Amino acid sequence: MVETAAESAQHERPPAPVSKGTFRAVRPDIVGPEEPQPPFPIILTGAVQKGFGRGGKDLGCPTANLPDESLPVMSSVTQTGVYYGYARVAADKVGDPSHTLSAEDAVVHPMVMSLGWNPFYKNERLTAEIHIMHEFESDFYGHEMKAIVLGYIRPELDYVSRDALVEDIETDKRVALNSLARLGYEKYRDHELFQT
Ligand SMILES: Cc1cc2nc3c(=O)[nH]c(=O)nc-3n(C[C@H](O)[C@H](O)[C@H](O)COP(=O)(O)O)c2cc1C
Repeated sequence: MVETAAESAQHERPPAPVSKGTFRAVRPDIVGPEEPQPPFPIILTGAVQKGFGRGGKDLGCPTANLPDESLPVMSSVTQTGVYYGYARVAADKVGDPSHTLSAEDAVVHPMVMSLGWNPFYKNERLTAEIHIMHEFESDFYGHEMKAIVLGYIRPELDYVSRDALVEDIETDKRVALNSLARLGYEKYRDHELFQT
């Protein structure tokens, strides 16, 4: 049986295969069955943490990191890799009433999530980073984020260039949007998790 991310985190950072041009050329446009199958949906919540900030600066893809306490829910049942689903950031920031998101920022948006060691950046820790597919008007560090993970896109890979990683992330976003556009997935936008 393949190790979950939590099991592999017990020992050394596992080696990740290098992404090849041939892999990027043949990636499918849509992934997963017509509706989520176990272990999905997986619900994750937590206050948004600051990462290293390279997602936004280097990759044109800002990510919201979940706190370590949120990780076991996901990493104990799945492997490292890229996932898709929906996320919502709370309008209000706990302990800071002056910082409120616009109504448009605070609704449910599609997301892609990277669960792993970011081998390209040689991180020493397992992280869960969510890229919400929406142009936010302001940052939302410290705001509560709720996410529903609905499916798996691909394994985590290492890269010989930044451009190759950016190309795969752009494909991940397209694949996520196509995959979420099915009835069995779209309905999770209205999940009770997002109602409160
Ligand atoms: C959809 C998506 C897929 C990603 N896939 C990989 C990957 O396969 N390999 C990798 O090393 N990093 C991958 N990353 C992670 C980026 O390396 C990460 O976002 C970057 O380290 C920025 O983190 P930082 O903001 O904490 O600096 C992915 C990120 C996203 C959003």
